[in-house]
Parts: sequence; C-alpha cells; structure tokens
Amino acid sequence: MGNMSNIYITTPIYYVNDKPHVGHAYTSIASDVLARFYRLKNYEVFFLTGTDEHGQKIQQATKNNNLNTQEFVDNMSLNFQNLTKILNLSNNDFIRTSSQRHINAVRSFWEKLNNNGQVYLDKYSGWYSIRDEAFYNEEEIVDGHAPTGAPVEWVEESSYFFKLSDWEEKLLKFYEDNPTFIQPKSRYNEVVSFVKQGLKDLSISRTSFDWGVKVPGDESHVVYVWIDALTNYLTALGYPDNDSKSLKDFWPANFHFVGKDILRFHAVYWPALLMAAGMETPKKIIAHGWWTVEKEKMSKSLGNVVNPQDIINKYGLDQFRYFLLREVPFGNDGDFSEDALISRINSELANNFGNLVNRVFSMTKKNFDGVIPEQQELKEEEQNLINICDENLSEYMICFKSVEFSKAIDSIIGIVSMTNKYIDNTKPWTLAKEGKIDDLKRVLRVSLEVIRLVSILFYPIIPSSSTKILKALNLSIDEEANCFAGPGSIPSLAANNRIGDLDLLFPKIDKNLT
Ligand code: MSP
Repeated sequence: MGNMSNIYITTPIYYVNDKPHVGHAYTSIASDVLARFYRLKNYEVFFLTGTDEHGQKIQQATKNNNLNTQEFVDNMSLNFQNLTKILNLSNNDFIRTSSQRHINAVRSFWEKLNNNGQVYLDKYSGWYSIRDEAFYNEEEIVDGHAPTGAPVEWVEESSYFFKLSDWEEKLLKFYEDNPTFIQPKSRYNEVVSFVKQGLKDLSISRTSFDWGVKVPGDESHVVYVWIDALTNYLTALGYPDNDSKSLKDFWPANFHFVGKDILRFHAVYWPALLMAAGMETPKKIIAHGWWTVEKEKMSKSLGNVVNPQDIINKYGLDQFRYFLLREVPFGNDGDFSEDALISRINSELANNFGNLVNRVFSMTKKNFDGVIPEQQELKEEEQNLINICDENLSEYMICFKSVEFSKAIDSIIGIVSMTNKYIDNTKPWTLAKEGKIDDLKRVLRVSLEVIRLVSILFYPIIPSSSTKILKALNLSIDEEANCFAGPGSIPSLAANNRIGDLDLLFPKIDKNLT
C-alpha cells in the first residue's frame, strides 16, 4: 500500500525504433508538470520515464540498419535520455527494458502469473500488427488493416496465453468501483463497453523471433512485448524484491500517462495482470489525445515529423512546454502549427505575463532603485485583486487535481490579466509624477506579490522562467514554504530587498521573420 503522501507518476516507455517527436515530448511534459506540481505541494514524488526496447518492431528496425540489436537500442535509447534533458524533465529514474534489472522483473512477474495458474500453453492463429505490437480479432480487421490503419499479418505459432477471459467480470466490477480510474470520462466509457463485449484470453509469448525476455522454463518463447513493457512500472520500484522500500512507498502508481492509442493495454490488460499476480492496481490512467501537424497526421513519409529540439532552438523550451499544455484541453486531439505557437507566445507570454513582470520590475527599479517597497495599507482595488487571486488559486488547485492543464493555465492567465488591468487603472506612472509615494509603493508592492504567486503557479509548466523571476525576487522555489498562499494572506516578499537583473523572458516573435 503506497504511502498517502507519496505520488508515483509514469510516462509510457518509448519504442526506440523512432526518434523522439512532438507526440513523445507531449506525454513526457504533461507527466513532468504534474510531478512538479505535487512536489510543490510537498509530496514525495517518483517520476519515471524510459525506453521500450524489445519486440518484433525493434528487431525489424535493427535489421534494416544492419546493426547488432543491443548496439542499436543502446544508441536509440540515448535519444530519449537526451530528451529528458532537452525538455527539462524532473524524472527520478530512466528505465530501459533491455537492462538486467528489468529482465529479472519480467521473469519474476511471469513466474508469479504462472504459479497463480493464470498461464497455459496453446497455439495462436490470428492477426498481428508489428507496427502496433498488437493482436487483432477477425472482426476488427478493416480492408486488410488493423483499426489503427496499421498493416497486419497472419500468425500461427505456439504461444502461452494469459487467462484474461477469467477477469472480465472482475474488471467490470473494478471499473464500477473506481469511476475515476480512467480519465477523461469518454475514454472510461469506451473501455467499459470494450470489456462488456467480452474478453478472449491473451497471447503472451512469441516464437517467430527472439529479441525479448526469454520465457522462464521455455527458452523457445519470448515474452510478448506488452507484458514486458508494462512490467517496467514495477521494475523501477525494485520489483521483484518485495522488501524494496520504493515498492512499498510508491506502488500502486497514482498516474500512468498514456496516449489514447495505448489505453487498452493500460486500462484492461494491466489491471487484469496485476490482479492475477495478486498485486494492487494503479489509481488512474490518464489518456491524452493525439497531435496532428498543420492538420495532417504526423508521419515520416509525409516528412512532417516535428522534432522537439528544432522547435525549442527556435522558440525556447518554456514556450514549447506552455504551448503544448495550453493549446488543447487535456484529453482532446490537437493541431501543432508554428503559427498557433507564435500566437500563444505573443499574446499570452510576451504581451500579457512578460509585460506584467517587465513593467512592474522596471517601475520598481526606476522609482525605488529596485528596492521592494514595504507593505502598505490596502484599498478596495487591492482587496478586489486579492480576491480574484484567491478565487483563481482555488480554481487552479481543482484543475490540477483533475489534471486539466489548459484550464489551470486559464486561471493563472486570469490573474495576470486582472493585474495588468489593475495597473492600468491605478496608473503608477502618474502616481510617481504626482509624488504620491505611498500610493506608488502600495501598487508596486501588491503587484510584486502577485508576480511572486503567478511565478509559483506557473512553475510546473514553465519551470526555468519561473525560477528566473523568483530568483530576481530573491526567492527560490525550493525554499518557498507555504508557496501557494495568496498575496493577501502573508506578505511574503521581504521589504528592502533589491530586485535582481532579469533578461527579457519571452521575446515577441515577428511572424514575418520566422
Ligand atoms: N512502447 C509503447 C508504450 C509502452 S508503455 C508500457 C509505445 N511507444 S510509442 O513510442 O509508440 O508511443 C509512446 C507515446 O507517445 C504514446 O503514449 C503515444 O500515444 C504517444 N504519441 C505518439 N505519437 C503521438 C502523437 N502524434 N500525438 C500525441 N501523442 C503521440 O506506444
């Protein structure tokens, strides 16, 4: 039983036949944002990502490259390890399925299922898609293809099976008892109706190739890559060592982030396998939508694959992170385009948030030599602003709890817009000209307090920009006790501290120059 103050968050592990693209970056960034949020809330967070390196698809990719399979996966995995740096991910571990610790975990998990009478040997005859690494029923095949559009081939081979059909009723009961197990709700309904249609036993080993974990006691079989891959979530916690502290502290996982294409594996097979192994099931599977690029499906053949590094070089990391989470409600599909990215950067980061920080910092520098003014008695206008902050802060918390990133960003942007409006109304430049120093101090002080709060609220999403602003205010996110307190509840900025230098955070982008 995981500890209540601990949170375990995972990304899917990425197939190494491909280089990282915007779709991979999206799942990873979303998971990172939630991990950073829970750390701010003082939870102990274990955030895992990694690479999926076994199976027929990878073996095939290796053959195409004429390389030794292990060397190939070693090289390709590095692209994803680099991605964690490029995206500023705060992962606690990086799991690779070709590592010995993982192979041990998969074999133990298999043995556990086998000892529990959940595995039997038979023959599989049916369709298989190497691209999806998935078995398909006859009824699912449309015009000779998988429902995903992937090519399929007819497979007939000796195979071990998992008694998935035994778990149909228990799964349905489990979904009923845990109505928030799958998010969004539309996906939950989809999974329930899939299971209601009936479950067949699942083929869990292959014999027509050998790049995988050998089945314990029968080396002519390799474990089906999805059983292998799902087990990664246990490996990283020290499984099969049941005394492992991480396993005790962090299992069951709180959040498995997945794309909608791999929901069935996580929401049907995974809980059934865990129940069959006598283990606890994860708390939540969060399925996000897919990105198209300029309204087209992203594909190598179309040559429109978006490389996260290129976008980050051109527009900046925080800008990229912000866009991905802001542009579409989490769970929906989205369309990636540089035009949309530029509009978000210019209207929300540069003209709104960046402008607020700029104008308040520069007025404080100009009028008070950068020294943060002491707290003044507040008037109605400030009280109104503080109320808005408090309301939006509660909204933000609710949105994060339900993993609705774009709505959470709405609530932050709401504070920023109202603060800019407050400044337009109170006209601190006029107060300065008229020598109304106490009024000027009051306005700038409150505005700086709001900037502190907004930077903290933004921290999970745009960590490096937030850190820079807080640093300029002589604050550090790690030392911010009570960091979610609104600007009215505590004067958290030390007066008489001097604001440090801050480069322009979000330069405005001229569409014509890109
Ligand atoms: N290896 C499996 C996952 C095993 S988890 C135990 C896998 N790997 S993948 O590399 O193909 O995909 C990883 C993730 O990237 C999936 O969640 C998938 O949904 C996501 N995306 C891949 N392309 C995508 C888009 N175009 N848009 C959004 N996400 C997409 O599946």
